[in-house]
Amino acid sequence: MSALPLVYYGSEILTGIALPVPKVSSEIKKLVDEMFETMRLNNGVGLAAPQVGVNKRVIVIDVSHIGVEPFALVNPVILKQSGSAEDSEGCLSLPGIFLPVVRSEKITVRGRDIKGRSITIQADGFLARVLQHEIDHLEGKVFVDRIEDRDSVNKEVEALKVRLAQFALTGKWEDADE
Ligand code: NI
Repeated sequence: MSALPLVYYGSEILTGIALPVPKVSSEIKKLVDEMFETMRLNNGVGLAAPQVGVNKRVIVIDVSHIGVEPFALVNPVILKQSGSAEDSEGCLSLPGIFLPVVRSEKITVRGRDIKGRSITIQADGFLARVLQHEIDHLEGKVFVDRIEDRDSVNKEVEALKVRLAQFALTGKWEDADE
């Protein structure tokens, strides 16, 4: 088991619709393990398969700091959502950008766990936010797509492009100010 390279903003896979997983196979279990490792190595709270270059409907979430066991969801679907809440978000694919995003406050999500069993999760607060963020990735959306203030987003994204270009050249993040 090893961490996988992250895919960054600007990569085509982050804008595509990820494919449903027909069966939670050993290949999917291995992917989940590698996604957990990648997420932890990068201090993330959630990760979607397209962010490691895999076009499949798989997400992993680790919000153990709020008392929820880490879990993976395959083919997650939002069944219900209600309310509205705004909070700051970031994303491992857009390093260094943190901006407020409006999302549903409460959601009900159904998917398959790592054993292939159907599970339903009712979530609010931070977990609801992380779930929505990761499920968005499966629809080819990143969090800045949800922000209405396009001027702020464009400014941040331009600066990110410079950081990504430097990273591509040197393999290092310059002037990490976070
Ligand atoms: Ni993300």
